Amino acid sequence: MKTVAKADIRRMQHASKATPPAAEPVMRVEGLTKSFGGLTAVARVDLIVNAGEAHAVIGPNGAGKSTLVNLLTGHLKPSAGRILFGGRDIAGLPAHKVARLGIGRSYQKTNVFAPLTVWENVWLTGQTALPHAMRFLRPAHTHKAVRERVEEALELVGLTDRAHTPAAAMSHGEQRQLELAMVLATKPRFLALDEPMAGMGPEESEKVVDLLLELRKTYPVLLVEHDMDAVFSIAHTLTVMVNGRVLESGPVEQVRESKAVQDAYLGDGDEDY
Ligand SMILES: Nc1ncnc2c1ncn2[C@@H]1O[C@H](COP(=O)(O)OP(=O)(O)O)[C@@H](O)[C@H]1O
Ligand SMILES: [Mg+2]
Repeated sequence: MKTVAKADIRRMQHASKATPPAAEPVMRVEGLTKSFGGLTAVARVDLIVNAGEAHAVIGPNGAGKSTLVNLLTGHLKPSAGRILFGGRDIAGLPAHKVARLGIGRSYQKTNVFAPLTVWENVWLTGQTALPHAMRFLRPAHTHKAVRERVEEALELVGLTDRAHTPAAAMSHGEQRQLELAMVLATKPRFLALDEPMAGMGPEESEKVVDLLLELRKTYPVLLVEHDMDAVFSIAHTLTVMVNGRVLESGPVEQVRESKAVQDAYLGDGDEDY
């Protein structure tokens, strides 16, 4: 019979007790609340997005998901609560300041400048997001810095070949990819994406899933998404919202198995969300 050395036992005991290295929260949301008159669209929401993590937020229409994204990105002022990002509470800061701190966002409704080319669209966001220090450089240097951002962003989303196409001539799916390039050109430190696959066909969605799998290696991501297959392949952690409240939040597998979530959505397995 094989004997087990004391050192092996100690190692095994240690391994069984060892918890994974403590993940570092990039964003910590505490008690976040937004009321519109009598309606509380977001009610005391707590959630954490750790470094290296894609965190999906799901829930039926009207659950408060877009309102949450608008609060995190400064497009709405919270009624209460804190949003800790990069060591400070950013709740209530205006959108342009939040963007400068590195939170890049995409919108639920496509938000591109239709008459401009793909390149021009990405150029616009790339140059407005240049750090202040760079604005004092000679125009040629500024130009080069922005051009590199634009090229990188187009390369990442796979639109390099379409750079000179007017946005208006692109398919809906390509416009959504363009929107992601516009976010990436701002050199964000965090991505908040509101239904990036909304209105896409299966092939286009698949491309965006691949892209998000790539992006999550570099950026912490908060992703609002209806497509559960996409959510399960992209997200590490998941928050389920209903009527402004968090029903469940945690690692995807744990939330998926929660009774409350099963009852609310995943019950018969073929619901859309
Ligand atoms: N600016 C607003 N003024 C008043 N009510 C709003 C506003 N924005 C959202 N709501 C309401 O808040 C609730 C949550 O909306 P929303 O965040 O868009 O949900 P979701 O994105 O989950 O579908 C809905 O009842 C919606 O009608
Ligand atoms: Mg929404």
